[in-house]
Amino acid sequence: MDPIVSIDDVTKVYRLGPRRVTALQGATLRIDRPGFDAIMGPSGSGKSTLLHLLGGLDRPDAGSIQVGGERLDRLGERGLDAYRRRRVGIVFQQFNLISTLTALENVTLPGLLDGMPSGVRRERGLALLERMGLADRAGHRPDALSGGEQQRVAVARALLFAPPLILADEPTGNLDSATSEQIWQLLADLAAADGSTVVMVTHEPAAAVHCRRVFMLRDGRITETFDVEDLDAAELATRAQHARS
Ligand SMILES: Nc1ncnc2c1ncn2[C@@H]1O[C@H](COP(=O)(O)OP(=O)(O)OP(=O)(O)O)[C@@H](O)[C@H]1O
Ligand SMILES: [Mg+2]
Repeated sequence: MDPIVSIDDVTKVYRLGPRRVTALQGATLRIDRPGFDAIMGPSGSGKSTLLHLLGGLDRPDAGSIQVGGERLDRLGERGLDAYRRRRVGIVFQQFNLISTLTALENVTLPGLLDGMPSGVRRERGLALLERMGLADRAGHRPDALSGGEQQRVAVARALLFAPPLILADEPTGNLDSATSEQIWQLLADLAAADGSTVVMVTHEPAAAVHCRRVFMLRDGRITETFDVEDLDAAELATRAQHARS
């Protein structure tokens, strides 16, 4: 069976005029089972770059990226556009909600852009908001919601097309620690309930306990992989701290 995600020997170099910044060099990782996995590593290690490549937002310079049997690095612009719209959901640190739209309108916007009939949009959007515990917030604009509520709206939006892969880049970077715990638990529950795969980028060691597997990224490559259930609490804390330094 095809792996859910397979990243092989990926290199990504940013070019800023004459300057070159190597963000990934030989990054390799594989996800074979649905679940909630994390990519952890210090600032600048290449986490966002790797997630953007997985989300089809950018292309690698070398190496291959396969999601659900499809080589993203070989897709043309239209193929990549279709992949981004329907087969992957992305959640960002800044929530990226549109301030003039209600929670429900934000959640259903990708459906509007993709031609989803309005009745289906509304039904799915309301069901997702209810699932996020936000049924009574459907008509609120983002500035009337707490940070945790805004991020749950963003998660609902990412789920509109029920994609098999959900990506989250530092989803709790703007949230306090109690709210962060709720979001990590929510992502873990989603993966378990839907049989989907959630890949979260974070540098917060406290997130690791909610995950199944942690990939450690350092200087643009995966240097360590561990399964959370194999470690006791002290060992997990020690390993996860590597994300900070
Ligand atoms: N658009 C860009 N242009 C030039 N360099 C970039 C660009 N995006 C990232 N970089 C550089 O690539 C390297 C990896 O960046 P990346 O954002 O992937 O790291 P990160 O692990 O997500 O860091 P953080 O934890 O701070 O978000 C860094 O040296 C960064 O400065
Ligand atoms: Mg980043």
